Amino acid sequence: MNSKPEADWLNLLIGLLQGAQLQLLRVLDALGLATQVHGQPAWPWAHRLSGENLLIDLGQARSLAWTLVFVTVAVVALLLALLWRRPRYYLLALVPMLLIAAPWPDANVVLVPATPTSFQQSPTGFTAASIAQGRALYDQHCVACHGADGKGEGPLAASLAVWPPNLSGPLLWRRADGDLLWRILHGTRDARQGQSTMPGFGGKLDESDAWALIDFMKAQGAGQSLRALGNWPQPIGLPDMAVQCGTKPSRQLASWRGQRLRIVAGNVAPSEDPRLVTVVLSPPSSHASASADCVADSPAAWEALALIAGTDQLDGTQLIADRDGWLRARGEPGKAGWSDDDLLCRSERLPVPTKTADSASDGLGALIARMDAEPVRFVKGGFIH
Ligand code: HEC
Repeated sequence: MNSKPEADWLNLLIGLLQGAQLQLLRVLDALGLATQVHGQPAWPWAHRLSGENLLIDLGQARSLAWTLVFVTVAVVALLLALLWRRPRYYLLALVPMLLIAAPWPDANVVLVPATPTSFQQSPTGFTAASIAQGRALYDQHCVACHGADGKGEGPLAASLAVWPPNLSGPLLWRRADGDLLWRILHGTRDARQGQSTMPGFGGKLDESDAWALIDFMKAQGAGQSLRALGNWPQPIGLPDMAVQCGTKPSRQLASWRGQRLRIVAGNVAPSEDPRLVTVVLSPPSSHASASADCVADSPAAWEALALIAGTDQLDGTQLIADRDGWLRARGEPGKAGWSDDDLLCRSERLPVPTKTADSASDGLGALIARMDAEPVRFVKGGFIH
C-alpha cells in the first residue's frame, strides 16, 4: 500500500484533517468552551472527520481534497469582494458557483462517530514502566477474552456474542489512541443492535491504567508481528527508560531524541560507534556492566524490549532506533555485523538498493543510509511510513 504514488497527497490531507481538528479543540479549550473528560479536553461533537476511511476510499478522499480547494478559493473570493469594490458582484457570484461545483464527498464516509476522548493523546511517554504496569493489568482484566498473546483466543472468547479482535494486527494503529482509551473505560457496543460486546472497565481502572494498557498492547502487538512476519509492519517506538552514563546524573533515553540509538542487551562490552549512541541494557539478575559508557538496568526495560522483540531470549540482541525514536532494526544474538536487511520497519516505496562491495564491508553504514532515506511518517489513521 505504501508504494502507491497517491501516498504523499493523501498523507498530507489526513495530517491536515487531524491537525485542524486538534487545533480547533485547543482553541475551544483555551476559550473555556471544552469540558474536561479523563483529564483532557473533550471533543464536543458526536462525529469527527475520519482519516481511516479516506485511506480505504480513495475516490472520496479525492473529492474531499478538491472540495477543500474549491472552498478555499470561495473564501478568498469572498474576502476579495469585501476589499475590492469594482469586481465585487462578479466575485460574489463566483462563491455559490464554486460551492455548487465542488465535488462534495459522501458524509457517511468522511464523518465517523467520535468519542469525547477521540483527540486525546497518551501522557505516558511510552515508558518501560508504563508497559510493565499495562502488562500486569492486562493479565488481571483482559487475558480471559483477549488471550495471553492478544490474538483473541482467551478461554472466554468462544462464549461471547462477538469474537475479540486480533490486537496484534494493524487495528491498534488504525484507531485513534483516544478512541481506544474510551472503549477500554466505557466498553464497546454492537454497531447495529447496540448490545454490549465488551464491558467497560471505568469502574475498576482509571485513565492512567488505560493508557498503560494501550502501551502494553502495542508493545505486545509489535513482538507478535515480529514473530509471525519477521518484521514490524506497524511502527513502534523505543520505550523510554533511565540510563546511567558513568558518574553523571541518570537521564532518560528520550533525551537523546535527534540521535540514533543502539541498545545492546546483555552483559557485554560493545564497540562504540560514532554514528550511534550505544546503551547497554543489563539483564535483570546481574549487576550493571562496568565496561560500557552508558547502562540501563531496570527489569521493566528488559521485559519491555523482550516483549517488542518477541523473544524470551533477549540476551545478545541489539536494537537500533532512528533519530525520531522509532525502533527500526534488530541484530539477533550471535550475529556479527549489520546489513540493510536488518531494517525491520521500512517503507516499500524505494527500490531496495543493490548491494555493492562497499555496503558489504560497511553493513552498518548501508543500514543507516537506508534508515535515513525511509523515515517513518506516521499519521494516526493514515499511512504508517
Ligand atoms: C468479556 C470479554 C472481554 C474482556 C474481559 C475484555 N475484552 Fe476487549 N474486547 C472484547 C470483544 C468481544 C471485543 C470486540 C468488540 C467489538 O468489536 O464490538 C473487544 C475489543 C477490544 C478492543 C478493540 C476496540 C476497537 O477499537 O475495535 C480493545 C483495544 C480491547 N478490547 C481492549 C481490552 C482491554 C485493554 C481489556 C482489559 C482491560 C479488555 N479488552 C477486556 C472482549 C473483552
